[in-house]
Amino acid sequence: MTAHLQQITVHYSFPVVFTRHLFSPRNLALRKALTRDAPPRPARCLVLLDRGVQQAFPDLPRHIRAYFAAHAKHLHLARAPLILSGGEAIKQTTRPIQRILAALHRANICRHSYCIAIGGGAFLDAAGFAAALFHRGVRHIRIPTTALAQCDSGVGVKNAINYKNAKNLLGAFAPPWAVLNDAAFLDNLPQPLLLDGIAEAVKVAAIKDARFFRAIERAAPQIRRRNLPVIRRTLKRCAQLHMQHIATSGDPFEHGAARPLDYGHWSAHKLETLSRHRLSHGHAVAIGISLDALYAARTGHLPLADAHRLIQTLRTCGLPIWDPALTRKNKRGQLAIFDGLEDFRAHLGGELTLTLPAPLGARVEIHHVNRPLMKTCLDELCTLANRP
Ligand SMILES: NC(=O)c1ccc[n+]([C@@H]2O[C@H](COP(=O)([O-])OP(=O)(O)OC[C@H]3O[C@@H](n4cnc5c(N)ncnc54)[C@H](O)[C@@H]3O)[C@@H](O)[C@H]2O)c1
Ligand SMILES: [Zn+2]
Repeated sequence: MTAHLQQITVHYSFPVVFTRHLFSPRNLALRKALTRDAPPRPARCLVLLDRGVQQAFPDLPRHIRAYFAAHAKHLHLARAPLILSGGEAIKQTTRPIQRILAALHRANICRHSYCIAIGGGAFLDAAGFAAALFHRGVRHIRIPTTALAQCDSGVGVKNAINYKNAKNLLGAFAPPWAVLNDAAFLDNLPQPLLLDGIAEAVKVAAIKDARFFRAIERAAPQIRRRNLPVIRRTLKRCAQLHMQHIATSGDPFEHGAARPLDYGHWSAHKLETLSRHRLSHGHAVAIGISLDALYAARTGHLPLADAHRLIQTLRTCGLPIWDPALTRKNKRGQLAIFDGLEDFRAHLGGELTLTLPAPLGARVEIHHVNRPLMKTCLDELCTLANRP
């Protein structure tokens, strides 16, 4: 037998830009991103647009066309922006993926041209997955338009759709070519969508940055009152922490069994499915991190007072900490939420690994969940939620 150890080192770098009015012809952020390898010909682009964004910004397709016309020497728009319905529905079947693949094919997108997706986290997840499949991967530009996508999902390296009733079961790790965060998309964003991003900010602060947690705690009343500068600052810090983690954790493609950024997500993902996506990802995360904070307290990793601070911060911001779907039973008559533990383990393979805050701003990994104790935490959370 002969065995050769093949070793490959791949380096990724991509800009994450924070800007405003991305499609104003004077804004060069997009042009710079599309020409960063100094192509000899104008960069060929297919633009995919989330219908929810197009409805909130009806002039956007016109502005996109005008931007490409103003930069025609460097950029080429292969066709008018393709508008598809976004939200979780785009991740529920493979049909939208097929539509995007057909559009990439018709637009003659190659590995040196671009698939530009403008939309919420779900839209970008689906578009990024299609871009990763086409030609085994074409350059993908993310333009996130929700708070959660700008501070979390859009700046990462994961793309996915749901399959067989499980969140993100089909997907690909594929770093984007660039991420362009336009603050103007947040100006009229409905408050629940703003709060989705705040939930992820509380999540990452609780396990990584105690100072950031205290800042959110202090800012919570302003967040509730929709103070946009405060919200933008919070989202930006959240995005930086996510980026730092992906760059420095040593496991950007999650080969190991741990997934610190998914604190609270074993139940959040299950809750999204159990509520048939009535609960948004961010709202489900607020509930999931509340539950796991109580569990961290009951297992001696976090002072109970700190678990209550985290829960109170979420509530002050206007986020939920409880949902009736938590009481749903599965076919065996057991609490269905607990099936989320096995789904979560299976998604990564190996040993179940959950991350808990221990104490606020730091984290611990656990590999076993005491279900009766978790059930006590569920009851406690329900009691807390019923308190004014
Ligand atoms: N890839 C990752 O690493 C990662 C991380 C976290 C979350 N996610 C995924 O992100 C998804 C949630 O994303 P989301 O919170 O952005 O919500 P979303 O994408 O589901 O969007 C919610 C709604 O807002 C609309 N919308 C988008 N931008 C808008 C705007 N500017 N104004 C008005 N309406 C707008 C959309 O059309 C949609 O109807 C989930 O599927 C979740 O699993 C992925
Ligand atoms: Zn999340």
